[in-house]
Amino acid sequence: MRVLVTGGAGYIGSHTVLALLTDGHDVTVLDNFQNSSPTALKRVGELAGAPVPYLIADLSDAAATRKALVATAPDVVVHFAGLKSVGESTINPLRYFASNIGGTLNLLEAMEASGVRRLLFSSSATVYGAPRAVPVSEEEPLSATSPYGRTKLVIEQMLGDLAAADNRWSIGMLRYFNPVGAHPSGRLGEDPRGLPANLVPFVGQVAIGKLPFVRVFGSDYETPDGTGIRDFIHVLDLAEGHVAALDWIASKRGAHVWNLGTGRGYSVLEVLDAYSEAAGRDVPYRFAERRPGDVPSSFAETAKAERELNWKARRGLREMVEDHWRWQQLNPGGYEE
Ligand code: NAD
Ligand code: WQD
Repeated sequence: MRVLVTGGAGYIGSHTVLALLTDGHDVTVLDNFQNSSPTALKRVGELAGAPVPYLIADLSDAAATRKALVATAPDVVVHFAGLKSVGESTINPLRYFASNIGGTLNLLEAMEASGVRRLLFSSSATVYGAPRAVPVSEEEPLSATSPYGRTKLVIEQMLGDLAAADNRWSIGMLRYFNPVGAHPSGRLGEDPRGLPANLVPFVGQVAIGKLPFVRVFGSDYETPDGTGIRDFIHVLDLAEGHVAALDWIASKRGAHVWNLGTGRGYSVLEVLDAYSEAAGRDVPYRFAERRPGDVPSSFAETAKAERELNWKARRGLREMVEDHWRWQQLNPGGYEE
């Protein structure tokens, strides 16, 4: 299929573009590079054996977005573009509403105008708020615990309304759990700007000596070792999940939602141990206060994706941290070589 990938230069987008190319799709990326680098796409092209075409455009610009849809005439849009910092969203919610909700609205209008009605959307396990029970199934009640989370929730609702109003739409909403890891070549990975907010990128920077120690947020949760538990999923598994979901929406209509996780949780201390082993050195850490808004434990019920998409995450924690460590060592400054 001809696929337009918004945010395709970003962390999950770049790995997914490579997976789509490997699966034989014809891919164009749309990105404004506000949180990414063209180098990522250059490297995807090297790994795929052909350059990746891309358009520099901002989804906040309705005219540019319409133009991109007309120019590329895709069969389907895979929509990653957006802002993703929970903390920043609590400080500047309007930026998040404008960028994530406004950008998606512009994209949907441009798609509608050009008759493109197939979409895969990057949602998040954050839409479960504080889950009542784990594993978390797609049927759990939804809530927002941050402005960022609210943008994902609102967009999911918009997409549901759209599919209900017009049965020509075919929409997949993928609720990612905690994506980590990197391409095993060490050429693609996550390149956070400034201080990493997420656990694994932070641990990587401590392991390589850029930061002194990891703060483990909370040691008194009701979990076996007292630290938080999350469903870390290798970014390559996540990328393959998109390829599988694309096959589904190519042949089905309506709005559908799937969890993309492994179904198993690891604690913060287990991640630290695994990372220390992969790096061959102890990663120093200190216990700190719980981080506001964190839930004790979150991991996915994965049966629906397995059944309907015929997809299952295959890679374990060891591969996630080994691949991250390789990326970390080979690219100490991220994509800015
Ligand atoms: P990322 O920041 O690496 O990638 C997002 C990409 O979108 C970047 O290349 C950025 O430049 C681009 N972009 C942002 N706003 C844009 C705009 N207005 N117009 C055009 N391009 C724009 O983030 P990621 O980790 O790859 O996440 C991708 C998607 O998955 C996001 O929607 C995010 O909310 C969602 N998600 C991420 C995680 C995670 O932990 N990484 C978890 C759940 C969901
Ligand atoms: C994981 C665990 C922390 C950093 C976030 C978003 C979520 C989704 C994925 C986008 C928690 C602990 C972390 C550190 C620590 N993103 N931790 N020290 O919070 O599960 O999910 O990213 O949709 O919406 O909220 O991921 O990697 O930040 O934290 O102890 O320096 O690691 O307390 O238990 P989180 P995370």
